[in-house]
Amino acid sequence: MSNAGKVILITGAGSGMGQLAARNFAGQGAKVAALDISDAGLAKTAENQPNIRTWKVDITDYAAVCQAVKEAESQLGPIDRVFNCAAIMPFGKLIEQDVGLQRKIMDINWGGLVNIANATLPAMKARGKGDFVSFASVAGLIPTLLTGAYSASKAAVVFYNETLYHENLGSGIRFASVCPPAVATPLLEQGKSAWPKMIDTEGAPINPQTVLDAIETALDKGQFEVFPTSRARIGAFMRRMMPKAIWKQVHKVEGW
Ligand SMILES: NC(=O)c1ccc[n+]([C@@H]2O[C@H](COP(=O)([O-])OP(=O)(O)OC[C@H]3O[C@@H](n4cnc5c(N)ncnc54)[C@H](O)[C@@H]3O)[C@@H](O)[C@H]2O)c1
Repeated sequence: MSNAGKVILITGAGSGMGQLAARNFAGQGAKVAALDISDAGLAKTAENQPNIRTWKVDITDYAAVCQAVKEAESQLGPIDRVFNCAAIMPFGKLIEQDVGLQRKIMDINWGGLVNIANATLPAMKARGKGDFVSFASVAGLIPTLLTGAYSASKAAVVFYNETLYHENLGSGIRFASVCPPAVATPLLEQGKSAWPKMIDTEGAPINPQTVLDAIETALDKGQFEVFPTSRARIGAFMRRMMPKAIWKQVHKVEGW
């Protein structure tokens, strides 16, 4: 489906997959509202791209999110599509990881999604159309050692997405819950201080464009769950069927 002329709001648009999506959509003739907390990231996203407008917003601030959505709609028009990409991913052993940081991970990764959903979905519902795409993660389906706080936040995103989808069946809004394995973006740097060996057994991080292509295919097919690789889909299935065996493998790989 063509995105020309569409109004697309993206959080986490200052880096990685949000940035790539913003520039792709703008290149296709969409009008993009790019939200991020990083000025430098937003400037790079909008470089030489007249179809991208930027808003510096902390996604955890509901009043600021509502204001940005209001301004984006008045400047660009009603929002046709939302991409929820903003997240952070510090890793660490749970009882050693700073309590404030663990709560912040939940506040940004899940709380930010709650803020955007409440700020954008009522208008989409009233219009009876729109796309609402939210990035969860394989980590939200398969917990491992050292990723506990991030996995918990992404598990919250998985269930939140699923409930949103079911509560709005028949609304005309297409929902997608995206569960990628490791993707080659700057996010990975944040996990380097306590990197689980388990992630490396999954092979090299995949290309961000592969994830974006999988989202378009899923939306066109009306599929809610998006697994950009079959390995990610099979891994999630195995974890559901045999969690103890997966944990056994995790301990073996990590060596503790
Ligand atoms: N990269 C991966 O391996 C991977 C794998 C699975 C899922 N994901 C998910 O995909 C999404 C996109 O990830 P990415 O790899 O492109 O990440 P990224 O780190 O490249 O980009 C994330 C962006 O979110 C922004 N952000 C962080 N806190 C914010 C806040 N409080 N308010 C507003 N913006 C904020 C950052 O400034 C950054 O620009 C995330 O939800 C991530 O959890 C990523």
